[in-house]
Amino acid sequence: MEKRELLYEGKAKKLYATEDPDILWVEYMNQATAGNGAKKEQIAGKGQLNNTITSLIFKLLRKKGIASHFVKRLSNTDQLVRKMSMFPLEIVMRNVAAGSFAKRYGIKEGTELSTPVLEFFYKSDPLNDPFINNDDILSLQLANWEQLEIISAKAREINQALRSMFTAIDVKLVDFKIEMGTTSDGMILLADEITPDTCRLWDTRNAGVANEKSEGVSIEHLDKDIFRRDLGSIIPAYEEILDRLTTLDESQ
Ligand code: C5P
Repeated sequence: MEKRELLYEGKAKKLYATEDPDILWVEYMNQATAGNGAKKEQIAGKGQLNNTITSLIFKLLRKKGIASHFVKRLSNTDQLVRKMSMFPLEIVMRNVAAGSFAKRYGIKEGTELSTPVLEFFYKSDPLNDPFINNDDILSLQLANWEQLEIISAKAREINQALRSMFTAIDVKLVDFKIEMGTTSDGMILLADEITPDTCRLWDTRNAGVANEKSEGVSIEHLDKDIFRRDLGSIIPAYEEILDRLTTLDESQ
């Protein structure tokens, strides 16, 4: 497969055309951003870790019957994916209160939610990705009713699969963001990435070890909150996630 012209440069990835109109070449970059680009840093090794982690997660999800745009990993930082027409939505699933949810409702981070929560945010840099509800999505024609039903059902199914995957490696899946799109033949598929950049992952293996202690809660973050909250380097945490997922993959 040949890497052709640059089609799009995002905050963490570059997308290139290939000779196949249905296949894109994705390059994972070392750039880390937070607060819609307000905080920005180059972190050596991050692109490689995220490319490898998301490839492994998409592979493990496929084994559980969940399809995605992922085709194959090409190198440390590069992978091939199916070309999709993306819904301009960030699809967030939550199992434990944290981040913007904890802030919005004034509840302590770490509070278990009685039932998983599905939320949508409208992908728009100028608007700072605002929260959006189902009626807004339909009236703005970001997705139709049937698509929204499929997206919601898939998001909940992906949450169940990811939860059991992370529980098996002693990691609590607090929340995560995914994106979906439509293939040229009209199928709705999971796309983009699933990495510690897009999930909140709390370690449950090493009791007493914590990189954040606040409001009486001790958390060992293995995710991008380490960068967002200035808690140290993300690299050892991302390596830990990769090591554990590799062990899980080898055991299956
Ligand atoms: O900030 P918030 O609590 O809404 O984030 C929920 C989840 O979505 C977190 O796992 C976070 O990493 C992810 N997220 C993301 N990209 C964004 C916003 C949130 O991956 N632009």
